[in-house]
Amino acid sequence: MEASMLEETVQNPNPYPVVADLQYDDVWHLCLQARDLAWDAAQDIDWAELKRETAELPQEVRAAGAEWWSLRAWMEHGATPYGCERLRQAIYEHLPFEIKQHVANFIMEELRHHEASFRIADVLGGYQPTPKSDYFQMVIPRFHVEKEEREMSFYAGMAVNTLFEQLSGELLTARFKNARYGQIRKACELILRDEARHVQFGRILMRRFFEQLSREEKVMLGEKFAKKLRGSLLNGVYAVVNLPRDERKRSARARALAAEHGLGATHPDEEVAIIVQALAQIRADVAPYDVPIPLIEEIEGPDAPKTTLAAE
Ligand SMILES: [Fe+2]
Ligand SMILES: [Fe+2]
Repeated sequence: MEASMLEETVQNPNPYPVVADLQYDDVWHLCLQARDLAWDAAQDIDWAELKRETAELPQEVRAAGAEWWSLRAWMEHGATPYGCERLRQAIYEHLPFEIKQHVANFIMEELRHHEASFRIADVLGGYQPTPKSDYFQMVIPRFHVEKEEREMSFYAGMAVNTLFEQLSGELLTARFKNARYGQIRKACELILRDEARHVQFGRILMRRFFEQLSREEKVMLGEKFAKKLRGSLLNGVYAVVNLPRDERKRSARARALAAEHGLGATHPDEEVAIIVQALAQIRADVAPYDVPIPLIEEIEGPDAPKTTLAAE
């Protein structure tokens, strides 16, 4: 066994008390909803129908769709290591049962979003387990930087994460509207239903914990949010604005093509407008708690390009 693993074993020698008292009824309510609204990516989507209906699409379109849904799959998967760390933390810190249950549900749900996405990619033209572009190989792992997460308290960090869920929920709504194929629409709808619960969890955390944060912590939360948004999510994950020029061009074209054919994608220009609008909403949501979110220059500043394709 590696020395680091041994250290981790002795860090938490005492599992007691194994907490069973419910402390947060609103979080428990979300857990019950998650049980009622569980779904199965393999069974609940008619994959044969999607295959039939998309069989005649031109090769180029299928490839764009496969790339798009592969990216969606990597992103959804990106939430699972983050969730694992939070589950581990919730267990080690002896947090209430319903918090551990919610985080475990979160992992399961992100995993089924991942599954639905790679299955769609597979039908369209083949799921790509590793991004073809070097750039994406580099940027996706930056989605979750545990060191950054650890600088925040458990609840504050989770609340910041759910602000991103809100953003991605807005983007996913546009993708749902774009989807012309019934089964892609259904997948988007089922994913959105789970995401709504993740956003709800964030609202509960804000209500319960944000009042107690110090001014410094609030400033740090806003900065962390902006840093993650600029550093990884605008680099091809949520939108392509911060990608290097060539990759931006290629990536934007593929997205545009998938969107034109109703494959549940968003046109790159549309993405920026959605993010700007969602950011305004997020600022309004955190305003009562005085959490300042810095201006995101590249999409909100006066010099922000109005379109990503035309910016060439
Ligand atoms: Fe998700
Ligand atoms: Fe989520």
